[in-house]
Amino acid sequence: MNKQVLLGLAVSTLFFIAVYAECQEIYTPWVLRGSCNDTCGGYGVQKMIRACTTGCNCQGPFVQWTLCNANPCDFPRIPCGNGLGRVSVNGTGIVCGYTVNDAN
Ligand SMILES: *[C@@H]1O[C@H](CO)[C@@H](O)[C@H](O)[C@H]1NC(C)=O
Ligand SMILES: *[C@@H]1O[C@H](CO)[C@@H](O)[C@H](O)[C@H]1NC(C)=O
Repeated sequence: MNKQVLLGLAVSTLFFIAVYAECQEIYTPWVLRGSCNDTCGGYGVQKMIRACTTGCNCQGPFVQWTLCNANPCDFPRIPCGNGLGRVSVNGTGIVCGYTVNDAN
């Protein structure tokens, strides 16, 4: 390769990097919206949204759903739903959460 070709490759590489960096998708943090559609047990879901903060076309997702209201349900409901189990929060109480079953 001669010098012109090398220079052309270098310039186009830099140009590509600049364009790519300028168009990286950057989002706001997720924020909760609306309300939980159930009162206990992690049965309910709540909407989370985020926005694109760059001029690029962010591909998303912009919406996701998170389990909510993790306090265990009272009888006769099963205390925890959605595959959640009762987990202790460092002695301050019991909530419905993902049980960690690793043997550490
Ligand atoms: C809450 O929404 C989820 C997801 O749409 C649904 O599966 C669940 O049954 C809803 N709970 C109630 C109490 O409507
Ligand atoms: C229990 O956990 C919560 C949340 O992780 C924390 O804020 C709190 O300080 C903890 N309490 C104790 C007694 O460790």
